Amino acid sequence: MKSILLLALISIVSADFPIEQYKDVINSRNFTGKVVLITGSSSGIGEGIAKLFSILGANVVVTGRKAADVQRVAKEVLELSPKKLKPLEVVGDLTKAEDVTKLMDNTIKTFGKLDVLVNNAGIYPESTIEMKNLMEVWDQTFNIDLRAVVQLIHQSVPHLEKTNGTIIDISSIAGIRPGAYALAYCAAKAGLDMLTRVLALELGPKGIRVNTLK
Ligand SMILES: *[C@@H]1O[C@H](CO)[C@@H](O)[C@H](O)[C@H]1NC(C)=O
Ligand SMILES: *[C@@H]1O[C@H](CO)[C@@H](O)[C@H](O)[C@H]1NC(C)=O
Repeated sequence: MKSILLLALISIVSADFPIEQYKDVINSRNFTGKVVLITGSSSGIGEGIAKLFSILGANVVVTGRKAADVQRVAKEVLELSPKKLKPLEVVGDLTKAEDVTKLMDNTIKTFGKLDVLVNNAGIYPESTIEMKNLMEVWDQTFNIDLRAVVQLIHQSVPHLEKTNGTIIDISSIAGIRPGAYALAYCAAKAGLDMLTRVLALELGPKGIRVNTLK
């Protein structure tokens, strides 16, 4: 049932709807008492996911690299929350291991638990095998699109075990269909898809569901 909601959710948020229209889904599910961390939630699809979980009653963590964007989204997330629950705001860079740790630690310190981890943050720079700075672009893409996801899941499992929580990895059609000029992105998303499958096997018996959306 949740995956159906999330599919509907993605189709709604990718269109960048005005704030009033989020209210259309207010009675569709009830996430009251749940804590949801969404990476890359200061813009785009992540922003939409944060707003939808908020209007469905969840405590939400809004995080991104730019403080002004995080603040703007947090304000709208608070506005949408039926009980006016204040989201946690974390400004950080997922390429820095210490920022990832800070994100997880602040979430647990603030809300005491974690129910849903949405790995949404990603970059999709152009990359080709012959470009001069390929290795720089490769590392940057893999750091954000894959390494940070692994670190966040690694650090969240002890918390998700306690709540029978769930992990949602936002992937892309690029993970299964090759795109010219997107060497690093396609490879990283294919890696993310396999990571999700392996972790579904490993964490399923512990009561943690792991799924991907693309
Ligand atoms: C959601 O559940 C909480 C209790 O868990 C309840 O207080 C609240 O009214 C419910 N919200 C909706 C929109 O049904
Ligand atoms: C998690 O699931 C197990 C097995 O179904 C159950 O016994 C336990 O009460 C659940 N814990 C929470 C916090 O929901």
